[in-house]
Amino acid sequence: MREIRIGLIGAWGRGQLAFSAHRPSENIRIVAGADPSEKSIEKFRAKFANEPIAVYNDYRAMLEKEKLDAVFVCSPDYCHEEHALAALRKKMAVYLEKPMAITVEGCDRILETACQNKTKLFLGHNMRYMSFVHKMKEIIDSGEIGEVKCIWCRHFISYGGDAYFRDWHSERRYSNGLLLQKGAHDIDVIHWLAGAYSKKVTGMGSLSVYDKCEKRGKDEPENSSFNESHWPPLEQKGFSPVIDVEDTNMILMELSNGVQASYMQCHYTPDSCRNYTIIGTKGRIENYGDYGSEMTIEVWNTRKDGLRLHGDRSIQMEPEGGGHGGADEKIVRGFVDFLREDKKPFTSPVASRYSVAAGCAGTESIRNGGIPVEVKTLPAELEKYFI
Ligand SMILES: NC(=O)c1ccc[n+]([C@@H]2O[C@H](COP(=O)([O-])OP(=O)(O)OC[C@H]3O[C@@H](n4cnc5c(N)ncnc54)[C@H](O)[C@@H]3O)[C@@H](O)[C@H]2O)c1
Repeated sequence: MREIRIGLIGAWGRGQLAFSAHRPSENIRIVAGADPSEKSIEKFRAKFANEPIAVYNDYRAMLEKEKLDAVFVCSPDYCHEEHALAALRKKMAVYLEKPMAITVEGCDRILETACQNKTKLFLGHNMRYMSFVHKMKEIIDSGEIGEVKCIWCRHFISYGGDAYFRDWHSERRYSNGLLLQKGAHDIDVIHWLAGAYSKKVTGMGSLSVYDKCEKRGKDEPENSSFNESHWPPLEQKGFSPVIDVEDTNMILMELSNGVQASYMQCHYTPDSCRNYTIIGTKGRIENYGDYGSEMTIEVWNTRKDGLRLHGDRSIQMEPEGGGHGGADEKIVRGFVDFLREDKKPFTSPVASRYSVAAGCAGTESIRNGGIPVEVKTLPAELEKYFI
C-alpha cells in the first residue's frame, strides 16, 4: 500500500483526534506536528516518543521541509483559512476542523484553492458520523414520518462557561461568535436531515451571564478545562478579559426546499444535550440524549391528543465508546478511506461552507436587531467540483 505521511497543524487540543490515523501496519504515519505552544509540542513529542517524529513551532517550516501527503488542520478557528490555504497550495490533502473558516469569503477561498489545485478537502463535521444522527436520517429517508417540514434543535451546553469564555473563543475577532463556533455542527446536521441549505436567517441572542462574572487577573493563566464543580455560572471566576460574543443564541432558518428550522443554544445550562425534533407530514421524531450516554429516538406517527413522552416506537441506541461517542474514530477512518480509495465521506466541503454561511447570516441578524439576512450562495461551477 502507498505510504501516507501526515502532518498536524495544531498538535494537541483537538489535534489529538488525528492520532487514530497513525496506523503503521497500514503504512499511514503521523510524521510531523506544528504548534506554537511549547506545552503542546512537549505532549505531542511524548505521545510519539518511540517514533521518528519532527516537530515545528511554525507550520510553514513543516509544510516546507516535510514531504507530506495530508495535513490535519486542528488549530483555532481564526487560523483555519490561512492553514488550509497553505497546505492546499502545496497540493496536500487537508482534513479541516469545523467551522471551515470564520467568514463566508474565507470558506470560498478555501474551496477555490482546493478546486484550482485539484486537492482533496475533507471537513471535520463529526456529528455526521454519530449513530443517533444516522438513525434519525435513516428514519427520515425511510419515509416513516412523511415529508419533512420542520426541524427544531435545542442545544444545552453545561460546560459553556469553562470552554468558551476563558480563551480565544470569547472574542468575535477569533471565533466570529459562538452561534457559528458551536452551531456550525447543528446547522450542518439540520441541512443534512432536511436535504437543503438555508437561504434566509433571522435571529436573537445576547450576552446575558458571563459578562457579569469575575475576569481573570493580568498574571492569572488562561484555564479552559472542564469541571463539573463550576456551578452556578454567576459565581465562577477566571474569565477572559474580553468577552464580546453571545452566551445565548436563537435562529430561525428558511431552507431552499421550504423546510423551516430553528436552532437554540445556551451556554449556562445545568446539563448538556442536543435535542432535535423533526416534524414531517406523517409524524415526528425526537432524540433524548445524544452521544456517550443513554439515548433513545422516539417516533410518533399516530395521533393521540395530549403529551406522550414515548412515541409509537422507541429506539434504544447503545452508547459507543471513543471520542464524541465513537464519531471521532469513525470520521478519521472516513478521511483515510477518502484518501486511499476515494470513498465518498458523509461530510461535504460545500455543506460545511453553507453551515458557516448560515451561521454568519444568523450572527449578523442577531447583532442587527433580528433583521432577516439572505445567505450568500456559492457559484455553481465551484459547487460542481465537490460533488
Ligand atoms: N469537531 C469537534 O467535535 C471539535 C471539538 C473540539 C474542537 N474542534 C475544533 O478544533 C479546533 C481547535 O480547537 P481546540 O479547542 O483544540 O483549540 P486550542 O486552543 O486548544 O488549540 C488547539 C491546538 O492548536 C494550537 N495552536 C494555536 N495556535 C496555533 C497556530 N497559529 N498554529 C498552529 N497551532 C496552533 C494550540 O497550541 C493547541 O495545541 C477549533 O477549530 C474547534 O472548532 C472541533
